Amino acid sequence: MPKLLPVRQDGDPILRQKAKKISRVDDSLRRLIDDMFHTMYNNETPGIGLAAPQVGVSMRLIVVDMQDEEHEPIALVNPEIVKASKEMVVAAEGCLSVPGMRGDVERHEWVTVKGRDEHGHETRFRAEGWFARCLQHEIDHLDGILYTDKATNVRYADEEQICTEQSERQASGEKVPVAI
Ligand code: NI
Repeated sequence: MPKLLPVRQDGDPILRQKAKKISRVDDSLRRLIDDMFHTMYNNETPGIGLAAPQVGVSMRLIVVDMQDEEHEPIALVNPEIVKASKEMVVAAEGCLSVPGMRGDVERHEWVTVKGRDEHGHETRFRAEGWFARCLQHEIDHLDGILYTDKATNVRYADEEQICTEQSERQASGEKVPVAI
């Protein structure tokens, strides 16, 4: 059974460390991946992405599930952005480590990311839109960067607002919860 891990909150020094490269993809790493997905889905505010430092593990590992028809849930080991669009887009982000807040962040419209999957196989793909945004946000976590470092108009967003945002997104077919 996967475990629900406590999510580290802003102010915890582990969120500010540069996470270490992973040299071996083995069963214990795959257990951590399962626990991270479980934690992301079952957090008070469910997320679409989570980075290992957020659960207290300073390693270069992220999980992302856009929860739409277009994208499969993915785990990425040692993810790197190898190419990025010149075009930038601004949108409101949240983060499981900074609960109840929102801020507007400028991100590359698309990125090409490489890394390894949960079996240790090399993978390289191009991501666009919210998927690209989520990957940039999670990879920032591995370098000790929180979205609030880059955001403008950081503001409180109460539960009601978050629920409204989520149902609006669902209504528009986006199905994207805002906490990443
Ligand atoms: Ni985050």
